[in-house]
Amino acid sequence: MGLKQPLPYLSVEKSARKRKMAYDIGCGLGSFTSELAEHFEPVVGVDYAPIMIRRAKDFLPYNNVTYLLEDFIEIDIPTASVDLFAIIATLHHLPFESSLQKMKNTLRPGGKILILDLYQEDTIWDYLTIVVASIMNRVHKTLRHESSTTHKKSRRLGGNMLYTIPI
Ligand SMILES: C[S@@+](CC[C@H](N)C(=O)[O-])C[C@H]1O[C@@H](n2cnc3c(N)ncnc32)[C@H](O)[C@@H]1O
Repeated sequence: MGLKQPLPYLSVEKSARKRKMAYDIGCGLGSFTSELAEHFEPVVGVDYAPIMIRRAKDFLPYNNVTYLLEDFIEIDIPTASVDLFAIIATLHHLPFESSLQKMKNTLRPGGKILILDLYQEDTIWDYLTIVVASIMNRVHKTLRHESSTTHKKSRRLGGNMLYTIPI
């Protein structure tokens, strides 16, 4: 998942840097939690898998992040305390209505929920989007392959040069 790309929402939030509470629900290894830590404070990453939380903590470069080994369904979050919930590739594991309701209840006024997840196609536009996205995906993959081949070639050339230029 290309989560390293700064999302437009996060860019906007940059002006409000480190003043707001964010939760990353189902944080996994914490890659997006770390992105959030650049923009929010405090940040809480929640995951119920011990291995995920352990590994997320192992690579923790931010002191404004706390990782909780908890089930989101069970966790107690104070009402109107959260400015952003991020829930990436995780909502489909949770009960849909009650999870959204929980997030809604605990958001501050003006708070936001950022969801990236599976989507069920419904309209003709959804299907057209899939066709366009698959084509773009293929083009992107082809270009990336070419550029990585070029990159490897140039590294090899660079390597050769290092060995052949007499110093
Ligand atoms: C597909 S992974 C996504 C991880 C991360 N958000 C990412 O994008 O890399 C889904 C994560 O959600 C966690 N998860 C699933 N249900 C959960 C729940 N009820 N409470 C907390 N974490 C949960 C899983 O342990 C897993 O780490």
